[in-house]
Amino acid sequence: MKNGLTIFAGIFAIVAASWAGLLLTAHRQYGGLAQYVDALDGNAYPLPLSGLADQGRLVYEDLGCATCHTQQVRRADFGADLDRKWGERQSYARDYIREKTVHLGDSRLGPDLRNVAARGYVDGTFLYKLLYAPHSVAPGTNMPAYPFLFDVRRVNPGQASPLALPFTGRFAPPAGSEVVPTRRAVALAAYLLSLKDTYDYPVERAKNTPPAPEKKGEH
Ligand code: HEC
Repeated sequence: MKNGLTIFAGIFAIVAASWAGLLLTAHRQYGGLAQYVDALDGNAYPLPLSGLADQGRLVYEDLGCATCHTQQVRRADFGADLDRKWGERQSYARDYIREKTVHLGDSRLGPDLRNVAARGYVDGTFLYKLLYAPHSVAPGTNMPAYPFLFDVRRVNPGQASPLALPFTGRFAPPAGSEVVPTRRAVALAAYLLSLKDTYDYPVERAKNTPPAPEKKGEH
């Protein structure tokens, strides 16, 4: 093996060049992104998560919600996300810079959740019902139930919890009991209700708008 050293040096150079290409280029593009301070309202966007929502982020990770849900709205010429009303605009890299773990996801058995809090029908009660008994709000859905995020407990007359789920009919708990979200469910709902990228960065708008297509016949 008299060429051993040359082969090793060659392989090393190839691996090093791909590593540098992949990591350093990405770092140059995204690593320097900072929050954007809006001169009008003085806020630095993206806004941080509240403490409770940050706990909910861990529940989201823990339960593997990202196996079926993405958190990335593709731009108009990349897919139908905007037509499906999954967002008012595409997702920008800057949207994610404050996230400790980014849940882009890659499989869409369920809808994209990046802007779930901006959908009019989504509130705490809807989310609790969906998590406890998905078929109560989305009949025939594939979304699994997460009953362990709730306590079903006896209730004394006149002492119902304000968080008790308003179920009637076949989803209602046995008479004399109520379904109440646990702390994990409350945190998860707070996280989901924080998912809303409605702030439109002026800097991103200019950078991410694809150039207008050239008109035929004009030179
Ligand atoms: C096996 C796949 C699957 C998993 C895992 C899953 N979901 Fe879903 N989810 C769905 C599907 C499918 C729907 C669409 C329901 C319908 O038919 O309207 C949905 C709907 C939703 C919606 C309503 C979105 C909307 O716009 O109406 C929310 C919120 C949601 N899921 C949150 C979660 C959370 C939180 C978890 C983890 C605890 C989770 N999902 C896990 C499949 C899944």
